Amino acid sequence: MKNFRESENVFLKGNWYPVEETSSNNLNIVGEIPMELNGLFLRNGPNPKEPIDHKNYHPFFGDGMIHGLKIQDGKAHWYKNRYVESSFGFGPNTHVLKHAGKIYALVEGGVSPVILDNDLNFTDQIPFPKNDNKRFTAHPKFDSSKNELHAISYDFSEYLSDVNQVHYRVVDGSGEITTDLPIVLNSKPMIHDCAITNNYVLIFDLPVTFNTSRRNKDENASDYPVVWDDNYSSKLGLLNRNTNEIKWIEVPNCFLFHVVNSYEDSSGKVILDFCRYDKLFDFNNPLPFGKKPFLTRWEIDTIKETCVEKLLDDRPMEFARIHPDLEGKEYRFSYILNDGALNNLFKYDFLKDRNEVHHLGEHKKGAEPVFIPKIDQTSEDSGYVVGFVYDQEVDKSEFIIIDAENFSEEPLARIQLPSRVPFGFHGSWINLD
Ligand SMILES: [Fe+2]
Repeated sequence: MKNFRESENVFLKGNWYPVEETSSNNLNIVGEIPMELNGLFLRNGPNPKEPIDHKNYHPFFGDGMIHGLKIQDGKAHWYKNRYVESSFGFGPNTHVLKHAGKIYALVEGGVSPVILDNDLNFTDQIPFPKNDNKRFTAHPKFDSSKNELHAISYDFSEYLSDVNQVHYRVVDGSGEITTDLPIVLNSKPMIHDCAITNNYVLIFDLPVTFNTSRRNKDENASDYPVVWDDNYSSKLGLLNRNTNEIKWIEVPNCFLFHVVNSYEDSSGKVILDFCRYDKLFDFNNPLPFGKKPFLTRWEIDTIKETCVEKLLDDRPMEFARIHPDLEGKEYRFSYILNDGALNNLFKYDFLKDRNEVHHLGEHKKGAEPVFIPKIDQTSEDSGYVVGFVYDQEVDKSEFIIIDAENFSEEPLARIQLPSRVPFGFHGSWINLD
């Protein structure tokens, strides 16, 4: 591969640039891997294949690549990375998670999930065997009480056909779709994430909408097909999980890629924590990260149908994760990456309104911090925070394991990888059965 790591495109420079497939066994470890960690860490992200259109490349459309690490009995057995192979079309590039005994690589926009095995072999299994329509999302929410995934998905092919609707889909514990509800809207919003509570699914109808006019106006312009709409009437849909009725509530104009979490408090208000973008995807600036995101809370009165907004922190943050069994439930802790320098991780304590910082190092760039609960958990933060870290000085990555209860201290272990893991999106820890 030619060295194109200087590029006019910010998403092809340095550690954004794609890597080749590789694998390595018996990795070197600095420190000690906790013996109870037996599983796979998988992370998805874009890794565009040659030839790359440097002018118009956008990471949301880069070919998916999974980076995997197998840890067992205190050893790091292997690291490997593989392009996501799909017999259904585009290889999903955004998330990878396990549900109903299957590992799914996921993306939004109407593209089918792909199922892979524990060795990163991709299969042609139908993602939801009893439902013909394969569309899904990169960010389903896991209801641990019911062992269900809840998803709000949109489909570019419907938007292109001028069909203004999104879909609410539920996947049960056997991996089958049990609810498949079309939701008609007034426009075609890009919906990256959703949220759940005990009684609701939250639908984000916000001012980033499908629009192909950028390229129509200027043939040299980016063809990225979503645009910020200054005159949009932003709404939050509260879809009642029992009746499927939707109540739409006016909310401030803003955008979110990612929810931190949501729940109903003791008074019945819906609490939503998320990373809030003031404005994004300007017509003349389609780069998605032009405005920094800030940790924000909405308190939604479902009776008065009002939304009160509170800024929780004035430092930019993105890629928050929480305890995997607490999605949609009252919670206390989140683990979040600082946006910009990428060299700090935050542990945010919503109960005490305080946070701790794990400084990765001046030359290091972190990623989404994934929380793994301990097997015998004694508190919500009893567990490990893990993720890939890119070291600019040596141009390689490592995988770090932090004790979540001693968050600011040195990692318990650093697993040294043979190459670098490009910046990417989301991943999961998957316990070995
Ligand atoms: Fe995402």
